[in-house]
Amino acid sequence: MLKVLALGDKRVLQTLLEKCDDYLSFQNGGPLGPNAAEELLMVRPEDASERQKLVLGIYQGDTGPLVGVCDLLKGYIGPDVLSLGLLLLEPAARRRGLGQLAYQDVEGWARNEGFTQIRIGVLMSNELGLKFWHKVGFKETGEIKAYRTHWLRILEKGIKAL
Ligand SMILES: CC(C)(COP(=O)(O)OP(=O)(O)OC[C@H]1O[C@@H](n2cnc3c(N)ncnc32)[C@H](O)[C@@H]1OP(=O)(O)O)[C@@H](O)C(=O)NCCC(=O)NCCS
Repeated sequence: MLKVLALGDKRVLQTLLEKCDDYLSFQNGGPLGPNAAEELLMVRPEDASERQKLVLGIYQGDTGPLVGVCDLLKGYIGPDVLSLGLLLLEPAARRRGLGQLAYQDVEGWARNEGFTQIRIGVLMSNELGLKFWHKVGFKETGEIKAYRTHWLRILEKGIKAL
């Protein structure tokens, strides 16, 4: 189940992020800071508004704990484009199909909201992440962007209403 996360959820989100240090320290090029959850909830490009930012918690079932997070930016690249900055599950929740289910929920929500395209950036050396995005239907755009100390491959998926 997906649920919008707000600043009131920062403690439980921080605990989740600490469990995901394997991926986050690789992405950030250093250890996780004590305010990582608050930063994830707040950070957005300078020219994006607060209402474009959306962080969704991924919960196990209807009553289970927070096991993942998805960071989104609505209509930033273009009005119909949803940018997905991060999809992250705690290590114990990975490789059981939950990522695919969570992504399908995000895509269904995005379609209902009228978005026609989802765009993501995958860290150049994240081969497993890339495999996941290909599996759920994303295609390489050929675009490459700098991100912190990394390069990102930009992938897109058209999600026009069926
Ligand atoms: C990427 C991530 C969200 C995928 O979620 P998941 O629940 O582990 O993935 P699923 O079990 O739904 O797998 C779906 C498909 O993705 C691919 N995949 C995912 N993890 C994989 C792995 N470790 N090795 C190989 N293939 C993998 C496979 O094609 C898999 O399909 P299959 O099981 O039929 O082979 C999760 O592994 C994660 O949080 N990883 C660390 C963070 C990250 O890399 N995020 C993506 C960049 S934003």
